[in-house]
Amino acid sequence: LAEPNADLAEMIRTIPDHPKPGIMFRDISTLMLDGGSFAATIDRLAEALEGDAPDLIAGTEARGFVFASALAYRLGCGVLMLRKAGKLPGPSVRIEYALEYGTDMLEMHDDACGPGANIVLVDDLIATGGTALAAVELLRGRGAHVSQALFVIDLPELGGAQKLRDAGVEPHALVE
Ligand code: PRP
Ligand code: ADE
Repeated sequence: LAEPNADLAEMIRTIPDHPKPGIMFRDISTLMLDGGSFAATIDRLAEALEGDAPDLIAGTEARGFVFASALAYRLGCGVLMLRKAGKLPGPSVRIEYALEYGTDMLEMHDDACGPGANIVLVDDLIATGGTALAAVELLRGRGAHVSQALFVIDLPELGGAQKLRDAGVEPHALVE
């Protein structure tokens, strides 16, 4: 039996030793350059929600923004930007987190969502889950409900998807 989404998997390029020796970098830019593959990716991410209608899609800078915005357009909802440190102009809340290759910071405007907002998190890839868990903590800290997260790629051996499940967030990924 063919792997699910094998057509999309073959559009993702692997670049060894980027940005550090030992990292197999899954480069989604090749999938994004192909209009048919990009559209199919957005359609399948939307289908994974099985009719759930979020108030907002939250995307993580930078690659997450590409998928979050297209998906929000398709679902007819707004986009909440989770930005790297120092980019947002208004009063913001922030969280520091560990990456597969370093540490980073995410911020959101403190008034970006009302308490009780139903928010779906979107990113291109989940690896250790550091980014996604930080995003969930930030959003929940503002009173949002986050019960589902969408990714194009999951690297299951790094354990991030399981950490999300343990935090009460169901991860959906198109390609492993
Ligand atoms: C990548 C990717 C995810 C994160 C996944 O982003 O887009 O956001 O790493 O890794 P994790 O599950 O171990 O946290 P990166 O921070 O490299 O930023 P970019 O999108 O700006 O390239
Ligand atoms: N983000 C974290 N780990 C990654 C990887 N192996 N490839 C692409 N993006 C990543």
